[in-house]
Order: sequence, then C-alpha cells, then structure tokens
Amino acid sequence: MAMAPGEAPEVLDPPSRRTRIRAILDGGKAQAGRRVVVGGWVRAGREQGHGAPDPFAFLDVNDGSCQGNLQLFVKGEVVGYPLARLTATGTSVFVEGVVRRDERAKHGVELAVTRVLEVGEVDAAAYPLPKTKTGHSLDPAYIRDFVHLRARTYLISAVFRIRSELSFATEKYFRDEGFLHVHTPILTTSDCEGAGEMFQVTTLFSQAQKLEAELKENPAPTQADIDAAKIVAKEKGDTVAQLKSAQATKQEISTAISDLKKAKQDVLTMEERSKLKPGIPRREDGSVAFEKDFFKCPAYLTVSGQLHLETLACALGDVYTFGPTFRAEHSHTSRHLAEFWMVEAEFAFANLQDDMNCAETYVQYLCKWLLDHCQEEMEFMVKSHDKDAMERLKLVSSTPFKRISYTQAVEILKDADRKFDNKVEWGIDLAAEHERYLTEVVFKKPVIVFNYPKGIKAFYMRLNDDEKRVAAMDVLVPKVGELIGGSQREERLDVLEQRILDAGLPLERYDKYMDLRRYGSVRHSGFGMGLERMILFATGLDNIKDVIAFPRYPGRADL
Ligand code: 4AD
Ligand code: MG
Repeated sequence: MAMAPGEAPEVLDPPSRRTRIRAILDGGKAQAGRRVVVGGWVRAGREQGHGAPDPFAFLDVNDGSCQGNLQLFVKGEVVGYPLARLTATGTSVFVEGVVRRDERAKHGVELAVTRVLEVGEVDAAAYPLPKTKTGHSLDPAYIRDFVHLRARTYLISAVFRIRSELSFATEKYFRDEGFLHVHTPILTTSDCEGAGEMFQVTTLFSQAQKLEAELKENPAPTQADIDAAKIVAKEKGDTVAQLKSAQATKQEISTAISDLKKAKQDVLTMEERSKLKPGIPRREDGSVAFEKDFFKCPAYLTVSGQLHLETLACALGDVYTFGPTFRAEHSHTSRHLAEFWMVEAEFAFANLQDDMNCAETYVQYLCKWLLDHCQEEMEFMVKSHDKDAMERLKLVSSTPFKRISYTQAVEILKDADRKFDNKVEWGIDLAAEHERYLTEVVFKKPVIVFNYPKGIKAFYMRLNDDEKRVAAMDVLVPKVGELIGGSQREERLDVLEQRILDAGLPLERYDKYMDLRRYGSVRHSGFGMGLERMILFATGLDNIKDVIAFPRYPGRADL
C-alpha cells in the first residue's frame, strides 16, 4: 500500500528501539545469534587491512548503560565508505548486527555489524578526550573543563551509575521503612540553618534592568516637559470654557472635554514617570524596597528542607525529601558545592538515639546496595583511583559505627600524636582534619559524634539538660569527614523561642514553625545527608566537583 507523504510506516526499519549494551554483555555467550540494533560512542577504534581489498575495523563502543564496551566488528564492504570515519574516539554509531561469540573479548561476545544506520563523525584532532583519557589513567581535574563531554569517560560514567543507584537505594530504603516521600520547596523565606549563607532570589535586578532599558529608549520627562504639558492642559481647559460660553454644539464641547481629559492624564503620567529612577527601588530611608519584589519580601534558595519537613513529620509521622540544596559559602574546598543534593529524613516521636540508628542503617544500606548493584563500577574505582574503595564499603556495611560524645572527641584530638592546623579545645567546630583523624586514624570506621556545644550548632537543636550542649549528631566517614548532620529538634516552645532570639533571628519569621510547638508538640528528630559526599566516600574520589554533572562553586556555573 502506498504511503501518503509524511505518514509513518507501520513497521519501522530499522527498529526504533536499540538494545542496551549492558543487556548484551550481561547475557554473554547466550546472546550469540541475536540480531540487534545498538547505538553508542566509540571509545577506541582501530582499522585493519587499510588499503587492502577487504579492510575491517574494531570499535569499542559504550552506550552508558554499563562500564564495559561492546566490540563491534565492521567490514569495509558493509559501510561503503572509509572505515576511518568510524574509528575516531567520540564518534557516535548506530548499527544493526548479529551478536557472535568471541573468546578473546572480555564478555565472550562481539557484534558483527551488518548495517551502519547512522554515524556522528568526530574531528579527531579537535576532540578533547583522547583515547587514553577515557581509560584508567584519567586525571579528573583535566576533564573538569569538559563538563559537557566528560560523562563519556569510564570514570565519570561510572560515577553517574553509582549516583543513580544511590538515589534509587535511598528511595527504596525509606519506602521500605515506611517513610512518605514529600517535596519541600526550593524557594523559601526562612533561613533554616541560621547561618546566613543563602542565595537571594529576587526580580528587583531584572525589573531595574528593564526600567533602565526603557528609560534609555524613552527618557523620563523633565520638569520643563511637565510644565509645558501643564500649559497645554490649561489651554484645553480654556477652550472648553470658551466653547461653553459661546454655546457651541454639544459635539464640539464634548470633543474639547475629552481633549482636556487626555491633556490632564498626560500631565499625571509625566509626573509619575518623572519619579522613575534607574536602579534598585529604595525606601525613603535608603533601604531596599522589598515590597516591590516578587514575593514582597526577601526570599532565598533553600539551604535545607528541614523546617518544612518538620511540619510534615508533625502530621505524617515519618517523612523524607531529596532535592537540590544551595549554600552561598565561599569555601573553595573539595567537599563543598554551592548546589548539592541533600537527602533529609524527619521522624516524629523519636529522640537522638533513634536518629543515630536510622542514619547508621541508612548508610549501611547504601553501601550494601552499591556492592550488590555496582560491582563493575566499584572494581573500576579500585583499579584506577582508590584501592580501598570496595573494602571500605564492605566494612561499613557490616560493622556498627563508633559513637562518641563531642567531649570525648575533643579529648581524643587533644591527645593526638599529630599537630592540627586548627586548634583543638572544647567549644570549637570540628574541622575536616579533626573529623578525618577520628574516623580514618583512630577508629578506622564511621564515627557518630553527638552532644555538641550549643554555640556551634543551629537554633533548632534540642537543648540538653546541662544547657550547654545540644542533642546534635554528625556521622563522620573516612575520606570525607562529615557525611551526615542531624539532631533531635527542640520541641519546647519557650526554649525554642529563646534559641531563635539568641541566634539573632527574627521571631516573627518562625511563627508557623513555633505553632508546631503550640499545637500538639512532639519529640522529633531528623538528619540530612549530602548525596555528593556519599559518592565521594563510596568512590574514593577526592573532589566533589567530579561527582555532580554540572558543579556550581564560586566563580563557576557554566552550562
Ligand atoms: O549539616 P548540615 O548543614 O545539616 C542541615 O542542613 C540539616 N538541616 C539537615 C537536617 O537535619 N535535616 O548539612 C547536611 C549535610 C552535611 O552533612 C553534608 O553531607 C551536606 O549536607 N552538605 C554539603 N554537601 C556539599 N556541599 C556543601 N556546601 C554542603 N553543605 C552541607
Ligand atoms: Mg553539618
């Protein structure tokens, strides 16, 4: 049957769905004989018999579905053009072929290509990821400049599969534990951590830019312009009076009146426009006029969904959220990002002990999940970046975490046989070097430090009976230091009020948060884990910029 132009054929040829390379490699020799369509990018290609009558090429192709490559065997006669078009690293190929056994290939199979359906060529001289850089000897810092291409490397693609598994395992863990997944807002007017390191969200700048452009095009009227318009309006008024006394026709008078109205309106508009000033709108006292802003008050990108999560936990019991989180800290460390993903859990009728238990079993679950689902990726990490990565996961998934109080931690650090850059005394915030010493050197496993001095922790943490410390806990892990921060929350209205005041925060902004303590207050606890820190811990990579697709940090937010 003839097809009308533009009509889709009933049977697509080639099949529109490709087979993922993972399915072929996992299936191994049992896949032999299967006809499939695959698509991917060449990691390494070589042509043989160039110039001979029957040249052929081997292409190691990866499609991101797994760590391994599928070897493609392509005969020159099949493609009909120089095989060199296919062999450059980075070339995309979409081919049909038959899987066949190949004892030399790692997975025991290769694909004998019968048709090349599509090719996306690469100028090998310009492509920034040379063959060797896709392999084991990769320097993560080198490819950081190519955020748009680096996911094609062994390293970064492995990171993304690990990241994806950790996200899924998170959902699974909390769901199996009976938590509800809730979504907390990204735009907020409250400062959860009270530390003031927030990105402000405002339309005042774009409003100001628009106004500036408009004033350039159509400048604000001067006083002289207004005076001239007033004279015109007065003349129009005189005309109306004259027409009335001369008993002109109704039509004439009404036309003159509408001219007068327009002239008066022009004066008003000009007076209004003359007040327009370029720049951010300000009040009489010079402060920024936030009432003119989108939300009519200062708003920010969230630094934590905790306050919202608490309100939901105080109705739904056990809840968690998982989303992007923002901190405008100017810390150029390998552990901080301006945008990162945080998993936050909050549970009602729970104390600090419950909090620590949940955080510990969650981290152990994640480690076990990676061992069960990311074996190839972890083997790659062991071979190329951190020989202890797999052992660490095994150890953490099966060993109880060490729990020590902050006071004990400080004692241990004071007695340490090494000198720290940051001075150790009771009351300090533990620095990464202290945290890593405790977990890597002293205990050689994850450590939960609890009961921190109130002065270094957020206002919402529950004040202990000694009134000096709060029911806070941090989970510290090797390679990273702080992986999780959490606490029991202050459920007593009067104590909370005082803590907010002591932190120098405006009480009225926390009124709804305090309502939770006015109406059916309950003991509750929670914690937050930075997903990227978990990936650092699992992979042994050194820099947090390498475990998120498009890292944002001071001076960098491109693509
Ligand atoms: O310790 P933090 O600041 O705790 C909170 O935000 C709590 N409100 C969480 C809660 O109880 N619901 O942050 C929690 C975790 C840290 O332990 C760390 O893993 C990660 O978030 N984190 C960062 N990760 C990357 N870059 C940053 N700038 C981070 N700041 C915190
Ligand atoms: Mg913290």
